[in-house]
Amino acid sequence: TNHADVFIRGELLSFAADPGHNDRPAPGSIEHHEDGLLWLKGGHIHAIGHYEHLVTTLPPGADVRDYRGKLVMPGFIDSHVHYVQLDIMASYGRQLLDWLNEYTFPEECRFQDAEHAQTLSQAFLDEMLRAGTTTAQVFGSSHPASIDAFFSESRARGLRMLAGKVMMDRNAPNALLDGTRGVADTERLIADWHGRDRLGYSVTPRFAPTSTAAQMDAAGALLRNDESLWLQTHLAENKGELAWVAELFPSSRDYLAVYEKAGLVGPKSTFAHGVHLDDSMRKRLAANGAHIAFCPSSNLFLGSGLFDREAAHRAGMAFTYASDIGAGTDLSGFGTLKSAYQVGQLCQQPLTAWQGFYALTHGNARTLSLDHAIGQLTPSMEADFVVIDPHATPLLARRIERCTSLGEKLFALMILADDRAVFETWANGECQHRRDDH
Ligand code: GUN
Ligand code: ZN
Repeated sequence: TNHADVFIRGELLSFAADPGHNDRPAPGSIEHHEDGLLWLKGGHIHAIGHYEHLVTTLPPGADVRDYRGKLVMPGFIDSHVHYVQLDIMASYGRQLLDWLNEYTFPEECRFQDAEHAQTLSQAFLDEMLRAGTTTAQVFGSSHPASIDAFFSESRARGLRMLAGKVMMDRNAPNALLDGTRGVADTERLIADWHGRDRLGYSVTPRFAPTSTAAQMDAAGALLRNDESLWLQTHLAENKGELAWVAELFPSSRDYLAVYEKAGLVGPKSTFAHGVHLDDSMRKRLAANGAHIAFCPSSNLFLGSGLFDREAAHRAGMAFTYASDIGAGTDLSGFGTLKSAYQVGQLCQQPLTAWQGFYALTHGNARTLSLDHAIGQLTPSMEADFVVIDPHATPLLARRIERCTSLGEKLFALMILADDRAVFETWANGECQHRRDDH
């Protein structure tokens, strides 16, 4: 497509590096322009700087959009989410295994219908953009058509997305089991979608209880064949799940060893949850460059437990932040950070707003191996960003007026903001969501 240059004046914030865990961000970790100018060209960021400096270099007649009073950040990234579970969010009162059987599996059966998959793909992407999320790593159902629909809708909007068809060949309703087709369908989807425009394929065995060792071995073979693929699954979320895995794999030294044996633990592997890990598992994940997706609102909703960020840090194990819809209660990155803060408080591990917003942007991009393309407002990056309105509601406006520093303002947003504070969401250099149009 042919993009005209776009010029945006407003407050700009981007993270060049991990700000660390102190109250003040590490020197050089943030790029902040209180009165900044962002110059987009061809769907990418061409230049960023102080308005006064950069404005002198603009072509004659440049039409500068005035977003003063708003805060522009890189688009939020959600490292683990199930688009097929959008309609079962907020289903009452069960822990993981009952919740899967009572709500999740029946819901996922509906994605046999390609039309339903398309409708839900559209609804899900609308919600993501409304929440300021421009990239996610997404589970479909076990039906390949669920991923054809998702990638097709993502591509039509020019979004950078990772996704995969769930592989599951046991311990679930027959309508969801893919048997030996699981591998062939995955290969077909990889051939059709992986690396096309901004899309990437994530091989997706659901979790050890619903895949045979043979299916997980086959998933591992796909990864060995093509190092550019991602992998996503679940690990150590819930105590009942741990007991079940121990029963199903009696000779395995622990849960992670099941995945290690199949060759699923590598630098592009995301393991959702990791609430119940020991130091051996953390260190083995770290040694292989794999990471955990921390899903705080989901862990609170299903009563799964409190993710130990400090232990992860000590073991050198990376982790990302994720909504895990439909068990998560909030598609919004603000909501994920608010829950992460609450989990942190219960563990005496407070989360600064610097850490939080770094994680949602550059941090998640880096850990997902997407930082060459997204996560920062720097020249040559793809132009995916969110325009935040800190005065979106009367309450938020009152609270923001009290703030005397950027750190305080970010913290207030992390706790109080929701999709109402997302004024616009841009992806691929185009405005994809405008709050006041909806
Ligand atoms: N473990 C296996 N499948 C799922 C799922 O769909 N959601 C969550 N939260 N955990 C899982
Ligand atoms: Zn999940």
